[in-house]
Amino acid sequence: MRVQSGNNWSAADSAALYGIEHWGEGDFAISKSGEVTIDIPFPAGKISVPLIDIIQAARDRDHELPLLLRIENLLDSRVTEINETFQKAIQEAKYTGTYSGVFPVKVNQQCTVIGEISRFGADFGHGLEAGSKAELLLCLASLNDSGLLICNGNKDREFIDLGLWANKLGHRCFFVIESPIELPLIIERSQKLGIQPLLGLRIKISSKVGGLWTETSGDRSSFGLSTAQLIATVDELRKAGMLDCLQLLHCHLGSQIPDIREIETAVQEASRFYADLAAEKVPLKYLDLGGGLAVDYIGNQSLHSHSRNYDLPGYCRCIVETIKKSLAPHNIDHPVIITESGRATIARTSILFFNILNAMRYEAMALPDSCPEKSHPLVARQFQLYHEAAEIDLSTGYTEALTNRDQIRDLFRSGAIRVRERALAENLFLAIANILSKRLDPLEEIPAPLSGLKYNLADIYYGNFSVFQSLPDTWAIDQIFPVMPIQRLDEYPERRASISDLTCDCDGKLDRFILAGGESQTLPVHPLKVEEDYILGVFLMGAYQETLGDLHNLFGDTNVINIRINEDGGFDVIEEQSGDTISEVLTMLEYEPTSFYKDFRDKIERAVKQKRINLTERQQILAQFSAQLNGQTYFKS
Ligand SMILES: Cc1ncc(COP(=O)(O)O)c(C=O)c1O
Repeated sequence: MRVQSGNNWSAADSAALYGIEHWGEGDFAISKSGEVTIDIPFPAGKISVPLIDIIQAARDRDHELPLLLRIENLLDSRVTEINETFQKAIQEAKYTGTYSGVFPVKVNQQCTVIGEISRFGADFGHGLEAGSKAELLLCLASLNDSGLLICNGNKDREFIDLGLWANKLGHRCFFVIESPIELPLIIERSQKLGIQPLLGLRIKISSKVGGLWTETSGDRSSFGLSTAQLIATVDELRKAGMLDCLQLLHCHLGSQIPDIREIETAVQEASRFYADLAAEKVPLKYLDLGGGLAVDYIGNQSLHSHSRNYDLPGYCRCIVETIKKSLAPHNIDHPVIITESGRATIARTSILFFNILNAMRYEAMALPDSCPEKSHPLVARQFQLYHEAAEIDLSTGYTEALTNRDQIRDLFRSGAIRVRERALAENLFLAIANILSKRLDPLEEIPAPLSGLKYNLADIYYGNFSVFQSLPDTWAIDQIFPVMPIQRLDEYPERRASISDLTCDCDGKLDRFILAGGESQTLPVHPLKVEEDYILGVFLMGAYQETLGDLHNLFGDTNVINIRINEDGGFDVIEEQSGDTISEVLTMLEYEPTSFYKDFRDKIERAVKQKRINLTERQQILAQFSAQLNGQTYFKS
């Protein structure tokens, strides 16, 4: 993407550059003074709160960066939107069934998230989906009385018993049978406890969907019953006199489905299963279409795997109208539609903030006015190219400079030139490359040999965070999240940078960014100032990241605050959690911090005996060791 010049740069130019108007969908904007704000609509009007004020409030409470911020208002508004948009589509289509949303707990299991969905979702009857025993337990503790409880995943005896008891307590807890082997155990436990189960069958839909999770659908998907297994399970239930328990048909096509036509085809297929089972007197009432409602991380409503070619109203209409149309010839009641939207519910709620610790620039250091005498001829030639760099042919000039640089490195390896001459040669190459790179700015088309030049000369900004802990999907599945500075946006971002994290791992980096002009390997950023933190925000990252994060290099959980923005423009801190201490992280790896400390102290005592350190030093070292054990894992400025 060509970057416009810095003259008269305004916050509006930054808004266009970083695409915040698109992926922000009105939740995020940039103020005239160049700060990213979170915008919440209230009956009396919109309230805008600069994110930097929230970070300052967290800092005042001793929660330094990196910081994960959750904004409850955004979670509530998504739950509302999903429910109200389905209700509207249902009314408009004169569909006679209703809608029941459930939140799949695995997408973000954090206590405050599940608590808020249960509390706020109660008015809509918004339920929860559990995929394991631990998730079932937390659902049972948190779920409101009105929501459904959908149990997917593998279920052992303990899981089944608890789910059965849940029904006795008044929940509507469905066991979704994913594999034929589950049924005998469910029947046995239900007879033993004398509690009728509520059952669903997960079907394998043959229509495949695009995006990153295409393997979730189709014949080879790991979950769900083949058509033959479906029929066999229905027959088995009929034989056991338990057909009346079978009320739900389930399918999950995959996450982040970009194409609405594929959703339509799959819903059509699911509806056909529903109709034919209903015709066989299976008393179905619910059609659960799983997850898949995509988040437009890029904000361009496209078929890109990080976007979608539809919006929420389009998604709801597609589902409601397709079911209605597919069932029309069969004269059966319209089912309650269930969707298990995870990322679309929670992604917008969370933002990760981290500060930049330093920057590496790919620029020449001071160069002599003329080439030192007795320089190697290749070095002298680089000097000449440097002087002519403003005029030389871009392609041949660059290729020659690059070849010279590599040959000089070969000469260094063989001992033919010394390290100081190599240093001069590399500086010359960087100087030439930077001059040529500037000359690319006005060009519409970049000559092929220089296609990677901008990226190779981009700065590296070192961020105080761990990709593996806070944004694991960027590493694991090349997930792109919107990333941008949250201040100084009325200033021209004159630098370009990729971001490296704190881990000692070359994969610990961010080098795919969403900009208005499309995807870019580098992010436009401002030069760092000594006296001011430069803070980047990673947006729409509330789904899956917290749970999947790991302890690479022993960087633990970051500080977290949950806030609720109020009508008066202030905000309340609802919940705050300090990040993991080093001691906590070590405990997770089965170290025992007390004996760990004792082992270190023994070493210190030996050093005192051997007179390596004196008693004052002993005290200092022990105090520091102990303070760091109880301190956090990230970089402390
Ligand atoms: C059964 C089931 N339901 C719902 C979801 C959530 O999907 P999404 O986050 O796309 O809404 C998943 C995740 O893949 C899932 O496996």
